[in-house]
Amino acid sequence: MVLQQLHENTSIVDRIIKLKKERNAIILAHNYQIPEIQDMADFVGDSLGLSQAATKTNANVIVLCGVYFMAETASILCPNKKIIIPDPDAGCSLAATINCDELRAWKRKHPNAVVVTYVNTTAEIKAESDYCCTSTNALKIIDAIPSEKEILFAPDMFLGAYVSAMTGRKLHIWPGECHVHAGIKPEDIMKLWNRHPHAEFLIHPECGCVTSCMYYLAKNDIPSQRSYILSTEGMIKRAKASPAKEFVVATETGIIHRLHKENPGKVFHPVSENAVCKYMKMITLEKVLNSLENMVYEVKVPGDIASRARVAIQRMMQLA
Ligand code: 13P
Ligand code: SF4
Repeated sequence: MVLQQLHENTSIVDRIIKLKKERNAIILAHNYQIPEIQDMADFVGDSLGLSQAATKTNANVIVLCGVYFMAETASILCPNKKIIIPDPDAGCSLAATINCDELRAWKRKHPNAVVVTYVNTTAEIKAESDYCCTSTNALKIIDAIPSEKEILFAPDMFLGAYVSAMTGRKLHIWPGECHVHAGIKPEDIMKLWNRHPHAEFLIHPECGCVTSCMYYLAKNDIPSQRSYILSTEGMIKRAKASPAKEFVVATETGIIHRLHKENPGKVFHPVSENAVCKYMKMITLEKVLNSLENMVYEVKVPGDIASRARVAIQRMMQLA
């Protein structure tokens, strides 16, 4: 059964490679994608890396193996390329926590505030923002805003609390959360802390445990040389650079594949096996093949929204 599946996958991958050449297409995949997708992608990375890769490629077609807002971001940055997502229902529970009417009402209450929104938002939300940010550069973006300015930060409250604590800035924070990361609790971390006394802890700032981890770090209850709050790409870099041989990883479990692959001999424990993003897992090899065969499903952000959203994303990319 396993052998038969392997054989089928190989034949699908061969067909994908052939079609990719015919269409002058490139496949970009997020760090949370299933291993089969990561292994055949031309580029695997975090949200910022995917945006950067989209702007650098000469390909005419970008197949975005990730969630919908990532394909929208590629469309905003590359209006002359065809952006396709293998499953248009691959959404994001965090992006869904704020809509345009809610953001506009919030802005009306704080008319002089600078609006910073996380990349996990719809194109319409980005169009209403002054700056976009990702988990890689959120601190840099906030630091670049003059200290007297009021800031609205949306939609992730855990990332917002982390950024506020690290920069010392008071932010108005939208109460949004990602269902996968919010489920990672401080007690999950503490349990593994004692079980793996030599492991380093790699923690995504969207996690529900991040505020308490910062508190424990400040009190020295957990030593700072063993804990790192990082974006998914930051985790990949830290795992490579670190002398540690064992890591506990607090984010979506899809990243474990790349961590293993790029660090043979090191051990990675997911903090929770349940930290699985069902939207990221909607992309399969069969759907990628279908997307290249039939050039579906195109994601095209309308021109007026795209041009306003592009300003916020480009401001971020200049600072990143
Ligand atoms: P990264 O930009 O760190 O990859 O995070 C994206 C995301 O969706 C996290 O849930
Ligand atoms: Fe969105 Fe959470 Fe999935 Fe990331 S893990 S894409 S934030 S639902």
